[in-house]
Amino acid sequence: MKASITKTQFGVLQDGRPVELYTISNAKGAVLKVTNYGTIITELHVPDRAGRLGDVVLGFDNLAQYLAGHPYFGCTIGRVANRIGGAKFTLDGKTYTLAANDGPNHLHGGLKGFDKVLWQAEPQQNGSIKFTYTSPDGEEGYPGTLNVTVVMTWTDQNELVLEYTATTDKPTPVNLTNHSYFNLAGEGDILGHVLMLSASHYTPADATLIPTGEIRPVAGTPLDFTTPTPIGARFDQLDTNPRGYDHNFVINRAGKGLALAARVFEPKTGRVMEVFTTEPGVQLYTGNFLNGTLKGKRGVVYAQHTGFCLETQHFPDAVNKPTFPSIILRPGQTYQQTTVYRFSVRV
Ligand code: GLA
Repeated sequence: MKASITKTQFGVLQDGRPVELYTISNAKGAVLKVTNYGTIITELHVPDRAGRLGDVVLGFDNLAQYLAGHPYFGCTIGRVANRIGGAKFTLDGKTYTLAANDGPNHLHGGLKGFDKVLWQAEPQQNGSIKFTYTSPDGEEGYPGTLNVTVVMTWTDQNELVLEYTATTDKPTPVNLTNHSYFNLAGEGDILGHVLMLSASHYTPADATLIPTGEIRPVAGTPLDFTTPTPIGARFDQLDTNPRGYDHNFVINRAGKGLALAARVFEPKTGRVMEVFTTEPGVQLYTGNFLNGTLKGKRGVVYAQHTGFCLETQHFPDAVNKPTFPSIILRPGQTYQQTTVYRFSVRV
């Protein structure tokens, strides 16, 4: 089979701009679909242990449903992923106020983050699509014009490679991620997916999910996934409401570069997903807020815990936590982050 990229129209925005949908088939016949609206990954078809392709991400069949609102299915998140406490931060002596769109806090870039803008798409030679977006100075309250690039590559080895870069003309916080919800069985809940997290520590948070600033060991807690464990096995030991995980883990790493963050195994289908990243953290979110009101592709109702996210990132509220790795990008510097989701099977 020959790898190919095809472009179709996905719909039009309210202002009349057309939205594209790209279908990338690799040499193995596995398929990734991505739209330039929010750079949302709408479908990802990978083989099970019998070689049967199945769609392993949550999403919708049409643009209208994405426009009607959804909890960040498949999109790029920016300018700053996850939460900023009290929806404000001070940078170089100046305080910036952002939208409080998650209780008192700012979440996932604000009211109209990078998930809700139209990106420019340029298909490349090698099964890649280069998406670019210019975020104007002051957009969603953030300082500086930010030029952002996301190169998505769907390799013949069934690896989804996400390479992000950004430059700015004023100092600004930047923390980009992808918010795909995975279900390696393609249906049902994800409680039986067996998860290994290469993380001996996590960042404890308050009731509104803002980190306290501490870094604590996972040992002896239901957050210890250093030994592979079914995702749902210890939900009853968590004090979260709604039930499930929504925690930032500190990835074990020896140095800079790509490190293994997670491995997920789905016993019924044999599908395996590994996550490698350059980032210091990963948010494990188990679809706790899904409540059966959204109907996705193939008419499937997205009930609680029917998908999980592994959002590779700098730590939540880093902009207000001097002890966390900094997310400030200054003119002349280039922000870079790479994350690889690699799919395979275990027999
Ligand atoms: C992230 C957050 C969750 C939730 C989801 C979207 O994963 O950490 O609390 O907001 O996004 O519903």
